[in-house]
Amino acid sequence: MSDFVRVCALGELDDDTPKRVEVDGVAVSVVRTEGEVFAINDICSHANVSLSEGEVENCHIECWLHGSSFDLRTGKPDGLPATRPVPVYPVKIEGDGPDAAVLVSVTQES
Ligand code: FES
Repeated sequence: MSDFVRVCALGELDDDTPKRVEVDGVAVSVVRTEGEVFAINDICSHANVSLSEGEVENCHIECWLHGSSFDLRTGKPDGLPATRPVPVYPVKIEGDGPDAAVLVSVTQES
């Protein structure tokens, strides 16, 4: 079962600027980049650091503390020190234009 929850309007997301939201008590970083919207768990798999404070580039989000970069599509790190993936979640867009709803489900990992 997957429960999609509205987290924001599409127009609230700036390209390559992560937005930290909570979905059913789970901290999630929502990222609009390269024409798509991704949702990744906000906590780095290396230490308790918010990924939303990192930079987005080439469909990856970089942890600002030690520099591991996680693929927004898979959650996998592309380099040390992190070795474990971060959960990523399915995203749905409902509607059109800036008012379209961005929905995320944390009950299943994508
Ligand atoms: S806390 Fe994120 S790479 Fe170390």
